[in-house]
Amino acid sequence: MSVKVGIDQIGFYTPDQYLPLADLAVARGDDPNKYLIGIGQTKQAVIPPTQDVVTMAANAAEQILSDTTKSEIAMVLFGTESGVDNSKASAVYLAHLLGLPTNTRAIEVKQACYGATAGLQIAADFVRVHPAAKVLVIGADIARYGLHSAGEVTQGGGAIAMMVTANPRVLTLDAVSSYHTEDVMDFWRPVYRTEALVDGRYSTNVYLKFFETVWQDYQRQTGKTIADFTAFVFHLPFTKMGRKGLRQILPTASADQQASLTANFEASQEDNRNVGNLYTGSLYLSFLSLLRHGQLQGGETVGFFSYGSGAEGEFFSGTVEPTYRKGFAEAKIAAMLDQRTAVTVDEYEELFNEQLPNDAEDVRLPVGTEHARYYLAGR
Ligand code: CAA
Repeated sequence: MSVKVGIDQIGFYTPDQYLPLADLAVARGDDPNKYLIGIGQTKQAVIPPTQDVVTMAANAAEQILSDTTKSEIAMVLFGTESGVDNSKASAVYLAHLLGLPTNTRAIEVKQACYGATAGLQIAADFVRVHPAAKVLVIGADIARYGLHSAGEVTQGGGAIAMMVTANPRVLTLDAVSSYHTEDVMDFWRPVYRTEALVDGRYSTNVYLKFFETVWQDYQRQTGKTIADFTAFVFHLPFTKMGRKGLRQILPTASADQQASLTANFEASQEDNRNVGNLYTGSLYLSFLSLLRHGQLQGGETVGFFSYGSGAEGEFFSGTVEPTYRKGFAEAKIAAMLDQRTAVTVDEYEELFNEQLPNDAEDVRLPVGTEHARYYLAGR
């Protein structure tokens, strides 16, 4: 019998400030219900200049690491589309910050919001061949569209860290999955820009088309139907996006199952609604949100839809382990989210413009007041 491989632990970090989106709506002359209901976002993480993808990833990873597990990590796969260097992998900085062994592979994986899924699947394949190994998979990003842009309400940021091992405590991944790639210009960020370029409504249509394509292909490959699933989790650039995805397949379920899938979707969007888009980490924050707020039982099947603009989509599945609540630090995560403070729109705009300078030497940044062990204090 082949070894069970999947997610053993999940860590999550987001900075300690947020913007209430009803306030942003008023400031932009929009109806707050457009943001709260139409887009489905309530709060947006505000990223201070003292955090980047590396420090956020370190804060998320620290939550799930012990000295023993650190020494067993064979590979770090860092999914991001807002990395800090075009050459050196964020994973190398991260491995150093965390004090990981030097006989570790450390690589950055890029394909928009799909990067962490690529990392997860590569990690799972690696552990299937090397069952004693542990692989640290990261999805960390800062989602930036620009002040006054249509995408502004869908910004956010943070990091997810997942430990992929044999005999996992949270989720055993099925080996079969369905993926699809096409060269599409729906969202991209050329190297000279700090904000993404996006054809917003087109991107939402491509997302739904890719979901339909991989979901149909997955069913063809496996013979499974919607009746085999307890929950679906989606990449959530904003929560309405996943709601639209679920609505696309819901009519094929029985009335009872439609109700339970909808209840599980509500659980899976709760944390994303209050943090915003994490790009690579969003799908896995949604999974964590389902674990935290849902009522899953061991043995139930969860479907995952990963989407990265440009574009690549993948549908895969996994079986929830009865021990899943041991795989994340519920008290720490709840406290981190509850203890955040709200900023005004003016303060948010100031922080938005206060990015790490690209061309200055010896810049000293203010030391963050945030609840973070890792932060930038200068460069
Ligand atoms: N009360 C309730 N609902 C309201 C409302 C009100 N007063 N006013 C408007 N709405 C509803 C609209 O009816 C609409 O709902 P539906 O989509 O269900 O029809 C919703 O609010 C949004 O309204 P608009 O379409 O008019 O919004 P917009 O044009 O201002 O922009 C957006 C929406 C295109 C998503 C924009 O925010 C954007 O470009 N976001 C970034 C791109 C993005 O996230 N794309 C997702 C797919 S790509 C991806 O997934 C990768 C990634 O992470 C980027």
